[in-house]
Amino acid sequence: MERLIRKAAEMICTSKLNIALTGAGISVDSGIPDFRSAGGLWSKYDPADYATITAFRQNPEKVWDMLREMDALVSQAKPNAAHIGMGDLEKMGYLHCIITQNVDNLHQAGGARNVIEYHGNSSTLSCLWCGRQYQAKEKRAERIPRCECRRVLKPDVIFFGEPIPVEALNRSFQLAASAEALMVVGTSAVVSPANTIPSIAKDRGARIIEVNLERTHLTGTITDVFLQGKAGEIITALVEEVRQTLGPPR
Ligand code: APR
Repeated sequence: MERLIRKAAEMICTSKLNIALTGAGISVDSGIPDFRSAGGLWSKYDPADYATITAFRQNPEKVWDMLREMDALVSQAKPNAAHIGMGDLEKMGYLHCIITQNVDNLHQAGGARNVIEYHGNSSTLSCLWCGRQYQAKEKRAERIPRCECRRVLKPDVIFFGEPIPVEALNRSFQLAASAEALMVVGTSAVVSPANTIPSIAKDRGARIIEVNLERTHLTGTITDVFLQGKAGEIITALVEEVRQTLGPPR
């Protein structure tokens, strides 16, 4: 593994533009389960019944059963070594932008400033009827959070069947097309359009560094360096390698 960490660090330090794509796996060490691992959220809640905009419109009270469970975990979660390490990498000038599928705000809490949120952010709620917006924490005591107009509020996260914010899409595709290195951390890369980022980057010559507990469909195909293990441990070792041997802060 040391040899691979060194190889990945060298890629990062010799690339003019480094970006990252992250998924739920990076937040597992912060106490938030991922979706598709054994025991993940989708093993308990069928996404067809809980994670589509149609399901929310038809039965918002039922969807809030899952949302409340997630909100309880996210509201207590702290950034782990992986979030903090990526924030350090950004401060050192070796990570230009993080494209995340997560809605837990932990990259920002971990010090990263340049974060593109593909699936929104769970810290605010909106009314689909009158458009009023609320902080999630001010509605946490309500079992089913309601707007002043009495309709059920929806977290500002992207459900299946909703479009990814256009600004997020455009910026991420531009960055992927010009990146020289892409770190793919803690994602099964099965959900579109986020999962097109690695192939866009690869097609334009970027080197792909994958950090995951297990192999994914990227591993045997477009990944150049596969660092298998927990994101917290690997990112910490990677940042140390960048700091120690290959690159003074830019
Ligand atoms: N360190 C590194 N990788 C990990 C860790 C860890 N500690 N724990 C889990 N993983 C890996 C898993 O092996 C898996 O490959 O993270 C990946 C998580 O994959 P998913 O659960 O599918 O999560 P993600 O890829 O983010 O899902 C994408 O699907 O349901 C939607 O909107 C949801 O944003 C989510 C999207």
